[in-house]
Amino acid sequence: MARVAVTGSSGKLGRAVVPHLVEHGWDVVALDRVAGLRDDVVSSTVDLTDFGQAVEALSGIDDRHDGVDALVHLAAVPAPGLLPNAATFANNMTTSYNVHSAALRAGVRKIVWASSETVLGLPFDEPPPYVPVDEEYAPRPTTTYSLVKTLEEELARQLCRWHPDLSMTGLRFSNVMYPEDYAAFPSFDADPSLRRWNLWGYMDARDGAQAVRRALEHDVPGADVFIVANADTVMSRPNEELLAAEFAGVPLARPIGSHETLLSIDKARRVLGYEPTHSWRDETGS
Ligand SMILES: NC(=O)c1ccc[n+]([C@@H]2O[C@H](COP(=O)([O-])OP(=O)(O)OC[C@H]3O[C@@H](n4cnc5c(N)ncnc54)[C@H](O)[C@@H]3O)[C@@H](O)[C@H]2O)c1
Repeated sequence: MARVAVTGSSGKLGRAVVPHLVEHGWDVVALDRVAGLRDDVVSSTVDLTDFGQAVEALSGIDDRHDGVDALVHLAAVPAPGLLPNAATFANNMTTSYNVHSAALRAGVRKIVWASSETVLGLPFDEPPPYVPVDEEYAPRPTTTYSLVKTLEEELARQLCRWHPDLSMTGLRFSNVMYPEDYAAFPSFDADPSLRRWNLWGYMDARDGAQAVRRALEHDVPGADVFIVANADTVMSRPNEELLAAEFAGVPLARPIGSHETLLSIDKARRVLGYEPTHSWRDETGS
């Protein structure tokens, strides 16, 4: 059984990723500065801004583990504005450098990490170049949080240049949701501008966990990034109406379905075999 360290394991996404990986045969080491709730996986409480702690966390801690085969790095301050910008930068950038460097020292050659939909230009005050948006245009960060996600994508490219056998897969997750969040979705329809900031996208945490697992299984050297969202929008109103109201003049890159995600998951489907299995429409009967 392969062993994987999951940073940010106590967080919103981590709480879905850890059990999913366990169900699929991974031996999980859960790492977070907040103690986890699960007692069926090895866990340690670590501050990953401390390089010494990161090195031990990835290479072995007393009776917990003696090394890992892979790393899933989710730990971060997860949005703009939660902390002052410099504090977000210091936590997220330092944490990513530390865990990636510590993993490399420990011999890890498969890393999956959480990037973000924000690098696509959210909240799209400047309209996207086309829809559905994809991985083909350069990042357009508008916040310090998103700037760090952009720098982390470059960090991955350079680390893979230094280590030709290294595989780093970045997942540009959309807004993470749990089934209990879906009750609010029908109310979004009243105002198209309410959720224009991420092109009416979302990501079910369970499908996010599936994407992480598929990315772990994607053992191809080099750095690559994938948008990960659900297959549909959060809206009952059709895309034609939403785009006319909020993004008139933005060209269509290809024909799209009325409720198809405008955050393209074509690449994740094609390369990773990712296929969302949940929709808020099924959960709410909409
Ligand atoms: N939630 C979303 O909608 C969303 C969307 C796109 C990307 N992401 C990214 O996905 C990842 C997970 O997000 P989430 O929603 O689960 O966030 P979260 O805040 O719920 O979980 C993040 C976890 O990381 C831990 N952490 C942060 N800094 C740490 C450090 N220095 N040392 C140790 N632990 C640390 C926190 O304690 C927390 O438990 C993040 O990288 C986030 O930027 C989230």
